[in-house]
Amino acid sequence: MTGTPPLTIARTITDLRTITKNWRQKGETFAMVPTMGALHAGHLSLVEQAQTLADHVIVSIFVNPTQFAPNEDFDAYPRTEQEDCAKLANYRIGAVFCPSAREMYPDGFCTHVTLDGPAKGLESDFRPHFFQGVATVVTKLLLAAHPDLAIFGEKDFQQLRVIQRFAKDLNIPTQILGGPTMREADGLAMSSRNAYLSVDERAQAVKLITIMRQTANRLQKGDLCKAALEDGMQALKEAGFTPDYLSLHESHDLATFKGASLTQEQIGQFRLLAAVWLGKTRLIDNIEV
Ligand code: PAF
Repeated sequence: MTGTPPLTIARTITDLRTITKNWRQKGETFAMVPTMGALHAGHLSLVEQAQTLADHVIVSIFVNPTQFAPNEDFDAYPRTEQEDCAKLANYRIGAVFCPSAREMYPDGFCTHVTLDGPAKGLESDFRPHFFQGVATVVTKLLLAAHPDLAIFGEKDFQQLRVIQRFAKDLNIPTQILGGPTMREADGLAMSSRNAYLSVDERAQAVKLITIMRQTANRLQKGDLCKAALEDGMQALKEAGFTPDYLSLHESHDLATFKGASLTQEQIGQFRLLAAVWLGKTRLIDNIEV
C-alpha cells in the first residue's frame, strides 16, 4: 500500500497524550503546528517544514475564544474542519488535535499568562486582550502535547517573538521556530482573514506590501526614519487603508528603532511591521529591513 495513512483526530488532551506517549516511548520526536484552522498554503508550508524536523507532526485546529475581544470576528472566523482535514490528508500527519472550547477552558477556568517585553506596543495598542489569549492557549497546547518543537508563521511576527519569549521565561522545553510568510502571486501575505475581502478589496489589498516595500527601500537607503514612516502612513491612507501602525523595530526583541536613520551595518536587523483596516478586514504584514 502506498499513500498517506488516514488522519488520526484527537479531541481531548487525554487522547492526544496517549498518542504522544507512544511516540516518546519509541524515542521518536514530534513537532506541533498550532493553527486556528481555515488552512491555506502558509499553514501547509509550516507543516512541510515540521516534517523535515521531526518524526511526527501534530496540527492543532482551535479557534481560541480568549484571543478575540467581544467586538471582534470570533463568530465570523472561518471554521472549516472537514476541508482542513482533507488538505492535511495529503501530508504525513501524526495527529490533528481539534479540542472543543470546553476541553481547553473547562468550567472555572481562571488562569492566564501575563506578558511584557515584545508583547508591548504594536498589536497590543489596538488589541490589548490578544497576546494574553494567545499566550494562554499556546502554553496549554504545548503543555498538552510536550512537542520537541513548534512552528509559527512569521506573518504574525510579534506573536512569534512573544511566544519565543514566554516559552523561554516559563521554561517550556519546546523549541519555538518561525516559518517564512507565504504570499499570493501579487505579494499579499496569505491569511485566513483574506477570505473576508471583497473582489475590489482583494485587488486593493496588495498595495499594503507595495507601500511597505517602498518604505523599506527608503529606510535601507538611509532616509530619515520618521519621514519614511510618515510618508508610508500617508501612502497607506491614500491607497484606501485605515492604518493602525507602520513601525520599525529590532527583529530580535521588537524594541522600537530609536535612531534617526539606519546605517549600512544595521540593515537586516530590523522589521517593518504594519496593521491596516481595509473595510471590515484587518490586515497585518511585516518585512525584514
Ligand atoms: O496564529 C494563530 O493562528 C493563533 O494565534 C495561534 C498561535 C494558533 C493561537 O491560537
